[in-house]
Amino acid sequence: MVSSSVKLGGSASHIAVGRVAHGLMLLTAVSDEQAFEAIRAGVDALPSGTKMFLNSGEFYDKTWGVGNLQLLSRFYEKYPEYVEKTFLSVKGAMKPDGKGMIMPDSSMENLRRSVENCQKALGPKKSIDLYQPARIDSTIPLETIMSNLITLRDEGKFGHIGLSECKGSTLRKAYALHPGSVAAVEVEVSAWEYGQEQKDLIAAATELGVSVLAYSPLGQGLLTGKFNSAADLPEGDFRTRFDRFKDDNIKANMAIVEGLKAIAANRKPPITTGQLCIAWVASLGPTMIPLPGSSKATRTLENLEAGDVELTSEEIKAIEQVLVDHPVSGERYIGGPANAHLHLWG
Ligand SMILES: NC(=O)c1ccc[n+]([C@@H]2O[C@H](COP(=O)([O-])OP(=O)(O)OC[C@H]3O[C@@H](n4cnc5c(N)ncnc54)[C@H](OP(=O)(O)O)[C@@H]3O)[C@@H](O)[C@H]2O)c1
Repeated sequence: MVSSSVKLGGSASHIAVGRVAHGLMLLTAVSDEQAFEAIRAGVDALPSGTKMFLNSGEFYDKTWGVGNLQLLSRFYEKYPEYVEKTFLSVKGAMKPDGKGMIMPDSSMENLRRSVENCQKALGPKKSIDLYQPARIDSTIPLETIMSNLITLRDEGKFGHIGLSECKGSTLRKAYALHPGSVAAVEVEVSAWEYGQEQKDLIAAATELGVSVLAYSPLGQGLLTGKFNSAADLPEGDFRTRFDRFKDDNIKANMAIVEGLKAIAANRKPPITTGQLCIAWVASLGPTMIPLPGSSKATRTLENLEAGDVELTSEEIKAIEQVLVDHPVSGERYIGGPANAHLHLWG
């Protein structure tokens, strides 16, 4: 069992969720049986009255389709008692960009299409608790995006509004337009992804009382120390395309992993390196909710247990020193001009 919980932000501030959320992105690739066990392990470990924060997306399958939501539909059909025990966030509001990728579109037409498409795939048992445009659509004024979202929320299409991959200044503007309406923002935060943009966003969210869903806190798995080189990844694994996983970069980045491993092992009783990473992300502010993803029940539990780990100021300093001594090698995601297609930091 884990005990730590946190209240969500903004309009959802009456809802308590586990200190650590569960990202479901990779669950589409495994069997229903394995996926369901991974979800249930987290929910079952929480005290009664605390919901498990689950994170899905309209495009979380190999063809940018609704496979992840259909999986959840089967889950809630089989386990209806988990409907009330979970708080489900869903990212959407994208459309094909004609080059094999997807791009943001927060027009009213596409938002309505997306929300209805998500709910249809999710089935009748569970409603969307939090809906988030996955990226900020820079072609539409934020005023329009927010008022579109509020219209759909007020129609009862979903419970609360979230944003994703947005700058601190964007969050401040959204808040000024509709105080209290944004419950959460989702952004990548980890020991190797903590720059000025993250700091600005976390400062804004702390000040405004908005939850920060800190995604990829395990550095897509590398920071857990469970593998040592790109060769350890299965053939065709999507991470082999990422800049930080390229041969020379991954070799250099292993120094960060070794440094973190040593700090985790020195703790009494020791914790895993993954738990250290999650606890460090949680320590960055009172509204932080680390969002690791795992398709395995044991790891979901291990990650959730990190919510009960309180790092000492010496441990936090030691982690910061590792990052000073070993700056991260390689860019986020693919890096270079290709990153422009990812519409980060809107
Ligand atoms: N807003 C966005 O743009 C965005 C982008 C990416 C992701 N996300 C969200 O964030 C979630 C997490 O992100 P992520 O999957 O990219 O990165 P992550 O949580 O940093 O790492 C996940 C990887 O680590 C492995 N892992 C998980 N727990 C582990 C443990 N305790 N020990 C060893 N390995 C472990 C997982 O493998 P197994 O499955 O085998 O355990 C998976 O390969 C996603 O599920 C998604 O919901 C959002």
